[in-house]
Amino acid sequence: MTPDEKKQQVARAALEYVVPGTIIGIGTGSTANYFVDALAHIKNKIEGTVASSNATAERLKSYGIPVFELNSVDEISVYIDGADESNRYLHLIKGGGGALTREKIVAAVSNRFVCIADDSKLVDVLGKFPLPVEVIPMARSYVARQLVKLGGKPVWREGVTTDNGNVILDVHHLEIAEPVKLESEINQIVGVVTNGLFAKRPADILLLGSDTGVKVLD
Ligand code: A5P
Repeated sequence: MTPDEKKQQVARAALEYVVPGTIIGIGTGSTANYFVDALAHIKNKIEGTVASSNATAERLKSYGIPVFELNSVDEISVYIDGADESNRYLHLIKGGGGALTREKIVAAVSNRFVCIADDSKLVDVLGKFPLPVEVIPMARSYVARQLVKLGGKPVWREGVTTDNGNVILDVHHLEIAEPVKLESEINQIVGVVTNGLFAKRPADILLLGSDTGVKVLD
């Protein structure tokens, strides 16, 4: 199977985790897009969605699926989103698509986080995929210097502005042995909005698309 076929396979499998009659959180990226395509077939079974990016909101609306502002919602039953990397503890690196902050907010509000990915995303140690950090624009150089002190090599994702009007630094050369600690350390740097480590609030379930079917890790 190609990576895209695995993403489609796992996106369809995630429909089982949709709680009828509730509001569902929807992530960003190619795997989340396949999930939206699958969700369109059962759209009448849910109350609506909260999207983690403008791009996802547009895709949901194109199918006639209701999209609510997070501030008008009390509860999200389940959040379904992809990842750039996951370890076996379901700590994730996310933000390859630049939507990490809204993704982290929607994940925080959700009762359950179901992560969907193709099996190439499972790694022993996080960090081969450069860690995205969303930064207030005027703090970019300062934050980059602090990230170097933490052992990383930050690269400005030039030309990209997040949905929140900020910039992204992608931090290379990190071998993340302690994801919870590093997530907190980076978030302490003044000017950082958040970073793409989802370790304090990891996924609850990881569904992996593979040649031999969908694998479930929890
Ligand atoms: C978006 O900002 C990311 O967190 C995505 O969830 C991540 O990049 C996975 O994307 P794909 O599903 O396209 O691999």
